[in-house]
Amino acid sequence: MCENCHEFNFPTAATAMHEGEKFRYTAQPMQSTVEEYRASGYFGRVTCQGCHLFSGTADSHSFPGGHALERLKRDLRIEIARSDPNHITVRLFAQGIGHAFPTGDLFRTLRVRLLGADGHAAELELRHHFELVPAAERDANAPLKRRVKEETLPPPRLDYVSMREYTVPWPAAARSVSAELYMDYLDPLNTMTTHLSPRITRPLILRQKFHLPPQRADATKG
Ligand code: HEC
Ligand code: HEC
Repeated sequence: MCENCHEFNFPTAATAMHEGEKFRYTAQPMQSTVEEYRASGYFGRVTCQGCHLFSGTADSHSFPGGHALERLKRDLRIEIARSDPNHITVRLFAQGIGHAFPTGDLFRTLRVRLLGADGHAAELELRHHFELVPAAERDANAPLKRRVKEETLPPPRLDYVSMREYTVPWPAAARSVSAELYMDYLDPLNTMTTHLSPRITRPLILRQKFHLPPQRADATKG
């Protein structure tokens, strides 16, 4: 039932660009929540509605998902530690999400902002990465965009936890990192043109500060 709308491919460039053209799909997925769900440990154990229809929501038809910030705050976790004098390891975890996260709309992004007391900053974008096919390479029967990288929290296996890890350059002198996790609903172009405030288009899920114990420069030599 959910598959009809939450699993589909890109239309051909001809379909996307010319109104009135007979609608045709390519073989490239645009939304693949069902495929991700099939790759997870939940497949065959819990259905989509088993997770998305809670008591108290059945009458409203409001399926909590990417807009349920309190639930996301509970289900997502971030851990940061020094990996060597010049880097930190950033680990993001999702617990109990029965597919990749983010999923659905191709521009949905889980944005991680890292800030040091000294002004040092870094940003991570967890999402399905797409790029526009250059006009010279465009094919009327192929999609207008291509998938270049999967950088989501992957579908969880049977321990029901999924994780993604990054190594980020971080100055040796910085003694802390403040991490902010945002749910970003819009693509970059709409982010620039919208009149809606970032509180609506890119709400904060959680903010957490990590202290980095000072390390001796020769700490890695054991
Ligand atoms: C008739 C088409 C259709 C069907 C069938 C459908 N959905 Fe959706 N659903 C949508 C659209 C359109 C959206 C809003 C677009 C978006 O957020 O990606 C949406 C949004 C959602 C969201 C919220 C995403 C967010 O932003 O928070 C969840 C969760 C969801 N659907 C789950 C389900 C489940 C589970 C089923 C099957 C029981 C289902 N849907 C069936 C079309 C459909
Ligand atoms: C094991 C539980 C589970 C199952 C099974 C599951 N989901 Fe979800 N889904 C979640 C959770 C948890 C979230 C994130 C919101 C939250 O923390 O409550 C989510 C988020 C979503 C979103 C919004 C994602 C975003 O990036 O904004 C959509 C759409 C969605 N689910 C659709 C589906 C569909 C369709 C299926 C079946 C193919 C499905 N889900 C199966 C637990 C589940």
